[in-house]
Amino acid sequence: MKQFRSIKGTHDILPKDSYKWHLLESIVHEVCTKFGYQEIRTPIFEESNLFTRSVGEESDIVTKEMYSWKDKDNTVLTLRPELTASVVRAYNQHNLGSLAPIQRYYYIGPLFRRERPQKGRQRQFHQFGIEAFGSKFAEQEAEIIAIAWHILSKCELNEKISLQLNSIGTSKCRSVYREALKNFLAPYLTELSEASKKRFNSNPLRILDTKNEKERSLLKNGPKISDYYSKDDQDHLDEVKDYLSAMDIPFIINPNLVRGLDYYTKTVFEITSNELGSQDALLGGGRYDNLVENLGGRPTPGIGFAAGIERFLLLIDEKKLKLNQPNPDIYFICLEKTGLSISLNISNKLRLKGYKIISDPLRRSMKAQMRDANKSGAKYVLILGEKELQENTIIFKNLENSHQKNIEQKKIIKFFDNLTN
Ligand code: HAM
Repeated sequence: MKQFRSIKGTHDILPKDSYKWHLLESIVHEVCTKFGYQEIRTPIFEESNLFTRSVGEESDIVTKEMYSWKDKDNTVLTLRPELTASVVRAYNQHNLGSLAPIQRYYYIGPLFRRERPQKGRQRQFHQFGIEAFGSKFAEQEAEIIAIAWHILSKCELNEKISLQLNSIGTSKCRSVYREALKNFLAPYLTELSEASKKRFNSNPLRILDTKNEKERSLLKNGPKISDYYSKDDQDHLDEVKDYLSAMDIPFIINPNLVRGLDYYTKTVFEITSNELGSQDALLGGGRYDNLVENLGGRPTPGIGFAAGIERFLLLIDEKKLKLNQPNPDIYFICLEKTGLSISLNISNKLRLKGYKIISDPLRRSMKAQMRDANKSGAKYVLILGEKELQENTIIFKNLENSHQKNIEQKKIIKFFDNLTN
């Protein structure tokens, strides 16, 4: 019989790892809530045009990576490759801006990009991220970068990463710079890589984040976008820098940071780590002051970031975070079929008191169940055998110090109440 396997680039999150996801997710919920952000959940698929219009027709995501199909009613749908567009769609659809001038959201969920799978790069991956709507001022940048920093601190990752910051100016600044960059690169066009040749016409700014060493050194002598900033662009970036310094958040200005999505204006940033290998971006984001309007809403500035959860988990030091699988408190051994109703009743009552209890549904021998109890890491064992059933008692054994005693069945809940007190 054919045995099925998961699709290339997708992964099962097995119980040996899922508890790490819970831990990271609980940090995200806690920190975002502390900063006044509320969770938003949007559908896994959307109309394709939503992504084409926002991420950009010439972007890698839209040209190569989307999982799209024509639905039975002929609408073209896409598994979401990112979440900013979906959140903006929801913001517009539900007129969320009318609730209060500032809206702050966070999300956690799966995304889909048909990229070549490798370490830290999957076709189904997961992000947590945040989006804030309503403020054009630099303190909004400060707030969202502070959230990223806070989550990194809680995961003890601040030493392993670097925050790169840039401004790509407004669209006016970019269109003048685009021409200057093209004029500079034109004489070298034949020497550029195939990818950069393509980008020369479609999206020349993306050539700036080339990984090709020859192109990088050529660009060192090229025009810089900062030479084309308006006074407002420059002042805004300076303010962001000041606020980051005020919060003791270290950053480096990377003039070649442009990001691969078309909706950004002014501030862009990325957090990278050398320990991640070639897929070194842990988190990326920026300001998108025209996106809400471009997707049919009222002109509203926006800014956010998203982080790859799989990449976070690659970096987290399990020992430092004491990421121990939570062990059961009690392993309940019932050796007689006639005792099962009693053991089920007691187990449920103790669970309601907060104890984590497991038992053996295979009716195995005392020896096998005891071995299993030791392996499970449980602190206590309760044993209900023939003798205890006759005497209406139950054996309590502390596996940490091997102390053991008989307790009347009707007093067992009280006994555990006192144990925790
Ligand atoms: P992005 O840079 O495309 O930005 O993705 C953000 C993060 O998602 C990356 O830094 C990386 O950690 C992770 N990531 C991306 N692709 C993959 C993949 N194939 N496998 C594993 N991890 C991956 C965005 O998605 C924007 N929506 C961020 C944003 C929010 N900008 C403003 N608001």
